[in-house]
Amino acid sequence: MPETLISHIHEFEGREVSLSGWLFKKRSSGKLHFLVLRDGTGYMQAVASKKELPEEASRLCDEVTLESSVTARGIVRKDERAPGGFELSLTDLRLIHLAEPYPITPKEHGTAFLMDHRHLWLRSSQQHAVLKIRSVLSFAIREFFQSREFVLIDSPIFTPAACEGTSTLFQTDYFGQTAYLTQSGQLYLEPACMSFGKVYCFGPTFRAEKSKTRRHLMEFWMVEPEVAFCEFDGIVKLAEDFVTDLAGAVLERCGPELEILGRDRAMLEAIRPPFPRLTYDEAIDHLKEVGQEIAFGDDFGAPHETALCEKFQKPVIVWRFPEKLKAFYMQPDPELSDRVLGFDLLAPEGFGEIIGGSQRIHDHDLLLERIDSHKLPRETFQWYLDIRRYGTVPHSGFGMGLERMVAWLAGIQHLREAIPYPRMLHRLYP
Ligand code: 4AD
Ligand code: MG
Repeated sequence: MPETLISHIHEFEGREVSLSGWLFKKRSSGKLHFLVLRDGTGYMQAVASKKELPEEASRLCDEVTLESSVTARGIVRKDERAPGGFELSLTDLRLIHLAEPYPITPKEHGTAFLMDHRHLWLRSSQQHAVLKIRSVLSFAIREFFQSREFVLIDSPIFTPAACEGTSTLFQTDYFGQTAYLTQSGQLYLEPACMSFGKVYCFGPTFRAEKSKTRRHLMEFWMVEPEVAFCEFDGIVKLAEDFVTDLAGAVLERCGPELEILGRDRAMLEAIRPPFPRLTYDEAIDHLKEVGQEIAFGDDFGAPHETALCEKFQKPVIVWRFPEKLKAFYMQPDPELSDRVLGFDLLAPEGFGEIIGGSQRIHDHDLLLERIDSHKLPRETFQWYLDIRRYGTVPHSGFGMGLERMVAWLAGIQHLREAIPYPRMLHRLYP
């Protein structure tokens, strides 16, 4: 008898198959048992007539507990009303393991309880759908860059220097030297793009963010492209194409997951270029107009980012920020010397900053000046300055936080559900 996954069940219409999984739901009515099994690839209703099942299997249908592991045998029948379009007429059921009473029940649980049981919570349909979208996105990210001839360059996790400011570093001892967990692979990609032209890295990133918000994790995944000979407009366009491509991939490949999550597809279909571009100054003016409290020189908070997107109902690019608000490596704006060629891509519906990027300073002396004025240690940046000593060229890049992208496209409010095992302030378990 063929063994199959639920995702392949349509290939076996009318035939008897065997499938292994976990009991997701069950009910009995009169002469029938209804079991819903899940195997990771889908959900499948199995129906058994109490009379026709072998006696042992029928007893098992009565006694089997939720989340028990089982092997079911049955005949695959087309049924328009069934989720997935097929149903299994059960011919036998065997127990692999009888689950203890399962702690996660259909009733509402508090977040702390669910987070303590994250290792089990992963099995619930919503969490399963979110993490499936994450997996699809990760693959689509690699496809996007590979198909555009980018070369993957893995950046180190232990680093000697800060990339995005010193306030959010995780420090550790490295055989007597101080090392930090990486905040961004950017400083390592800049040299690499001088070897390969177009490069990207994609891996875990660490920030000791001492604030508890729904948009910050201590450990998150970031994908970062870096492109030689690419100036500011070029990198902004790449970010726009990238986000559009990823939204398309999720629409195309994650239909069932979006449905489980109740995600409005129209919101994702609206992710089409061009995205409006606002200078920092225009953004401040707009925020004042709509009654937000903000002054020139302030950084945007979550309510500001939400308000900026409200007018457009699609992602918005804010660019040309005051130098003081941004990292040391950003190229000055040729039009306004106290502004830099940096941009943020903001997602609508309150999801906020998804991408941060910039053109990088490629002049040696200017970069040295900025390292000094940001009070960064010259010694640790010698290698980074070297790039400006041997055939320096204009180059640009950006970073996208994977969890923020997942949360936005899946329509979930908190980043903790966008990563399998979130690392948050005061949470290191499980
Ligand atoms: O804007 P950020 O700090 O930019 C950089 O790190 C640049 N060095 C990237 C580059 O140009 N190569 O971070 C980039 C993105 C943010 O837009 C956000 O999506 C995500 O990383 N991010 C976080 N995601 C979750 N939790 C946090 N604590 C995050 N901090 C940043
Ligand atoms: Mg940023």
